[in-house]
Amino acid sequence: MKAIIKSTISIAAVYMACMTGFTVMASDGVKVEHLGTNNTLVRVVGDSKYLMLPVQEAYDDATVNVVVDGKLDRTIYVRLAKSKVDYSMPLDLTPYKGHDVVLNIVTSQNRSTVREAKEDACWSNFQLTDSIDVTNQEKYRPAYHHTPLYGWMNDPNGMFYKDGKWHLYYQWNPYGSKWQNMTWGHSSSSDLVNWEHHPAAIEPNGLGSVFSGSSAIDHENSAGFGKDAVIAMYTSAGASQIQSLAYSHDNGNTFTIYPGNPVITLESEARDPNMFWNPDTKHWTLILAHALDKEMLIFTSHDMKEWTLQSSFGKGLGAQDGVWECPDLFELPVDGTDRKKWVLLCNINPGGPFGGSGIQYFIGDFDGKTFTADTDANGSVPTKWLDYGKDNYAIVSWSDAPDNRRTAIGWMSNWQYAAEVPTKQFRSANTLPREISLFTGADGQIYAASVPSPELNALRGKEIVNAKSVSVNKKGKTFSLPAENDGVCEIIMNIEPGKAGSLSLTFSNDKGEKSVMTYAPNYETLSFDRRESGIVDFSQDFPAVTTTPVFNGGRTLPVRIFVDRASIEVFANDGKGVMTNLVFPTEPYNKLTVNTDGASAKIKNLKIFTINTEK
Ligand code: FRU
Repeated sequence: MKAIIKSTISIAAVYMACMTGFTVMASDGVKVEHLGTNNTLVRVVGDSKYLMLPVQEAYDDATVNVVVDGKLDRTIYVRLAKSKVDYSMPLDLTPYKGHDVVLNIVTSQNRSTVREAKEDACWSNFQLTDSIDVTNQEKYRPAYHHTPLYGWMNDPNGMFYKDGKWHLYYQWNPYGSKWQNMTWGHSSSSDLVNWEHHPAAIEPNGLGSVFSGSSAIDHENSAGFGKDAVIAMYTSAGASQIQSLAYSHDNGNTFTIYPGNPVITLESEARDPNMFWNPDTKHWTLILAHALDKEMLIFTSHDMKEWTLQSSFGKGLGAQDGVWECPDLFELPVDGTDRKKWVLLCNINPGGPFGGSGIQYFIGDFDGKTFTADTDANGSVPTKWLDYGKDNYAIVSWSDAPDNRRTAIGWMSNWQYAAEVPTKQFRSANTLPREISLFTGADGQIYAASVPSPELNALRGKEIVNAKSVSVNKKGKTFSLPAENDGVCEIIMNIEPGKAGSLSLTFSNDKGEKSVMTYAPNYETLSFDRRESGIVDFSQDFPAVTTTPVFNGGRTLPVRIFVDRASIEVFANDGKGVMTNLVFPTEPYNKLTVNTDGASAKIKNLKIFTINTEK
């Protein structure tokens, strides 16, 4: 996806591209005064748009108090460099133009002498600049997935569709590529392919940093913030976790914090409010993760300000190994018929199907107050997973999506190793946007499928392979993957297993690094082995084999695969079996080999497309 930068943060490229990513040419205009062993003032005396903050990821956060005209404007936490600068992050000085700015910094490392504290690498590397270059300088930045321009990202937040635009907010640290300073970053798109980047939408404030949440459009002005106001509800995370509102009159570009916050307080950790208008009961409905209690709370309201707790769902049900987070609740048709069921998404961490983060969901009924989950033949509530890869978490859906679509996007990472993946200028991408639907499995249970949103068809570039029917056996057949754009591509095919016990698709490069998918018709499963996929040693939890059921009776398996620079997403049997996995090959995979464990099988209608990143 092409990154378009809105003129409000338009940043010309006078930056030097260099090995360390986000760097800037030296500038004067910064005065450093050491006050004590762990206390230093950095005074901005020059007049520039940005102050670059030098970061070293291995060090602890320093507390940086931004003092403007003698008053504290904000406090941010930055891993200021001690022995070397990994990269620098911009502090936007434009709101302070014409005012005195001093950073009153308290570092975490206590030194015995001021002389020792003065040695830190950061002090000579605070630099002023009028422009920063956000063009990509990293090999693992995706070519067509949404990423922040710089800094850390986790959960998608507050998504809504309005006036032809898909708005996407996200948990963002603008001051480093590890988790901290939670802010709602903001991007928007008219086609779910190209993303425009906007300034931060909601920043940490007096009630805490800004954790995950949702937004809704108040068509009837029930909250009194104005007709069609965009209303965001998020968790203010300070000493406790409380729920707050903010509203926007400019389609979600800027938000005003509601002065009556918080609107919900509870005694134990509760977060990630997801609210929607329920047309059946004609009231606002809110589902809130009671994280440590491992249950979801359901509230209703007429004005979004006063909420009544109606019920709780989930105690002791489903996967219970980790905290329950980021819920979503919506109704969908079953098998494309008039029959409808409710889906409750419950992100859980750890305790996912292959360790760490995962998305479980419950199918059931919702009467406006209480959610009741379907049971299986034994009368128990089955645990179901939306994605059997390791890297799809915190998935939630857009509100007000057109044509009753249930379009969702997840954070393409896993808390087990998200902070260690081999990137610098930014950390983490989102999954491809997906459409969720419901189908009935052979066991009579209702399951959720997810397929790439139809807009992604626009990514298809040149068709470099088109094979109507290919016979394969143990020896295998090899196809070249595109060379352009580091091999990013889309692949579709139907696997006819014949008598083969298994059929494998091996993505590999000349260094012998490989990601292997294996279809086992007798088990109705597809697995994904990334143990030798490239760089895997940054975490012991990264090398893994994941396996998804494919619900196809062991017959022909249609698969659709999206390869980006650091991820592979596979949608099998029209999204009934899905795996999203990160991979970090040191060179792009340049071939796909198809082989069986013995007997011959067929691949029908194999097509490999380049990805058109210049849409
Ligand atoms: C899920 C989560 C949320 C929380 C946010 C904080 O990944 O832990 O529960 O709101 O991240 O960044």
